[in-house]
Amino acid sequence: MLKQTTIFILFFVFFIQATYPTQALPTRDSTAESALEQTIRKRRSHRTFTNTALSEEEISRILFAGQGITEDTHGFRTAPSAGATYPLSLYVFTEEGVFLYVPTEHHLKKISSEDSREMLSQAALGQDFIAEAGATFLFSAIPQRTTNRYGSRGMQYIYMECGHAAQNMLLQATDLGLSGVPVGAFTEEALRPLLYHPDEEVPLYIISIGRER
Ligand SMILES: Cc1cc2nc3c(=O)[nH]c(=O)nc-3n(C[C@H](O)[C@H](O)[C@H](O)COP(=O)(O)O)c2cc1C
Repeated sequence: MLKQTTIFILFFVFFIQATYPTQALPTRDSTAESALEQTIRKRRSHRTFTNTALSEEEISRILFAGQGITEDTHGFRTAPSAGATYPLSLYVFTEEGVFLYVPTEHHLKKISSEDSREMLSQAALGQDFIAEAGATFLFSAIPQRTTNRYGSRGMQYIYMECGHAAQNMLLQATDLGLSGVPVGAFTEEALRPLLYHPDEEVPLYIISIGRER
């Protein structure tokens, strides 16, 4: 009896699915793509870098793509933010030290003169390419900025927002002829000491960017 019921359910599900209509989409013509579409198509994660530094211009453009201010009245940024609460902090790690991006001024605050890329790599379970990339970026968040308004759901908003900003940076890197990879595998506690407000900030996402070997 159980077998017969299972067969009936499977047949019913198959029948329902088979009756859903399909609709053809316009044929994709890759030769007629816009610059944005080409960049989206080109983006790929790469993990072998030449260990050459990124230029200041490259770093500036990648940071702006992630968190730059694009509207002066409200301070809206390149990436959307739940309720415009802007919980994210964005760091860049180079051989010259650790820097915090200040979107309102579009400048960097040097918070350490140490080359901490190896420490970052170790915190990310020994993923070597993090220390070899031209620059490695780190997103963290001060959750209260968003959870004060949205409660525990605010944490989900923060993860979503970080994804928006990270994708902007990866696409900007691709557009500059660079390669990158996002990294989510790391030990939070090992990264905290590298942050500007270690007690308040939660590390979220690493993005290594460089010239592909
Ligand atoms: C949330 C998230 C975490 C990731 N973490 C890592 C990581 O720790 N190390 C790594 O090498 N790649 C990581 N990746 C990159 C994926 O491996 C990569 O996106 C996937 O293989 C698809 O390839 P593509 O990015 O070239 O499309 C991560 C990607 C995402 C979205």
